[in-house]
Amino acid sequence: MDHRKILFVCLGNICRSPLGEGILRHRAEMRGLSHLVSTDSAGTGGWHQGEAPDARSIAIGRRRGVDISEQRARKISPSDFNDFDMIFAMDRSNLRDIVRIAPHDSSADIHLFMDFVGGEHRDVPDPYYGDDRDFQKVFDMLDAGCAKLLAFLYPPTRPGERV
Ligand code: 4NP
Repeated sequence: MDHRKILFVCLGNICRSPLGEGILRHRAEMRGLSHLVSTDSAGTGGWHQGEAPDARSIAIGRRRGVDISEQRARKISPSDFNDFDMIFAMDRSNLRDIVRIAPHDSSADIHLFMDFVGGEHRDVPDPYYGDDRDFQKVFDMLDAGCAKLLAFLYPPTRPGERV
């Protein structure tokens, strides 16, 4: 099976995309796919570079068994467009920014995450000015989406296998 490098991108890389990265890594581990999936996250903006994720993202992750506390924010760079196979934007504004800065020789597949995994909503909403419920909603959207993404990339091989 193919190895995939997957980058999650939001605006600040402190709320949504760190959770996407952490959840995908966690789910890949649970399915025994760690050797096949590499993941990272970045922001279209660089205001929070070097910072740990937002405390509310760390907290919801911890409550759900996903430790993102060691991750540090960074800004997306031109090399990401060739280093990663897939780049997932959290919302349509992020997608516009990513496409705008993509180098002409970009080899990555660039998608709006919720469009790719299929969902009721197109955007994973920015929870920065919200409350804990907004972070919970972000977690749930990303968790369901990452399960679907892994099931699409690595279909279960045994009947009844959990995805
Ligand atoms: P994120 O959330 O894009 O999910 O990391 C935000 C974090 C910081 C800001 C905006 C959104 N900010 O304006 O600083």
